[in-house]
Amino acid sequence: MSTASTTILETRGIAAAYGHAQVLFGVDVTLRAGEVVALMGRNGAGKSTTLKAIMGVVPSQAGTVTFEGQDVTGWQPYRIARLGLGYVPEDRRIFTDLTVYENLEVGRKSAAGSPGKEPWSLDRLFAIFPNLAEMKGRRASAMSGGEQQMLTIARTLMGNPHAVLLDEPSEGLAPVIVEQMADAVLAMKAQGIAVLLSEQNLYFASAVSDRAYVIEKGAIRYEGTTEDLEANDEIREAYLSV
Ligand SMILES: Nc1ncnc2c1ncn2[C@@H]1O[C@H](COP(=O)(O)OP(=O)(O)OP(=O)(O)O)[C@@H](O)[C@H]1O
Ligand SMILES: [Mg+2]
Repeated sequence: MSTASTTILETRGIAAAYGHAQVLFGVDVTLRAGEVVALMGRNGAGKSTTLKAIMGVVPSQAGTVTFEGQDVTGWQPYRIARLGLGYVPEDRRIFTDLTVYENLEVGRKSAAGSPGKEPWSLDRLFAIFPNLAEMKGRRASAMSGGEQQMLTIARTLMGNPHAVLLDEPSEGLAPVIVEQMADAVLAMKAQGIAVLLSEQNLYFASAVSDRAYVIEKGAIRYEGTTEDLEANDEIREAYLSV
């Protein structure tokens, strides 16, 4: 039924501003079922704002956001999440006083509010995040930043999303944790979850993603396979830090 070419998420011409400062100028991004897509760009390029505009966290002033064929432009974030679009923002929103297990249970309870949605089993989650299984009883405050980052993603998966937006999942992580994060993203893909992630690190993006967009000053400057992007010195030098 669903094939790799089914569009799951699509933005057309989205514009967004903070106060009077416009920061997105008509962004078109497409995510198809089964894909991992990287939205790349330097600091301040508009990556997080694009994800926020998709989720309805910042209002879009123009353009449309379509999720699984439904126009969700202007919807509240929680309604979009309930349709099956997970969102892991830049700042890690976990409960540091709770254990790993308890944080995941919070994710399960939020998921229970969505009709027809079976929360994920912990076994399925721990297959993607083996390190979390080992620290199930640990307080989140006693985890490293990278481990907390994994936990925020795991908690989002408890809501059984069909697609997930990940805002800079590799940011600030030690190299060994970056590898674990890449494995986790690929495991999500293997589970049939489409992923749109923002990223500055071309090494990470090429390890996990099928396609890439490059954004600069709030507009898409490049779109293609991650392989072609790696081979494109001009684009890399103009818009990426590597
Ligand atoms: N809350 C805010 N209020 C005002 N301006 C903001 C706000 N958040 C972001 N901006 C501005 O919007 C522009 C795009 O920011 P955005 O956070 O989308 O960039 P980014 O690509 O995610 O960068 P980074 O890699 O640093 O996370 C930047 O010029 C930034 O300064
Ligand atoms: Mg950002």
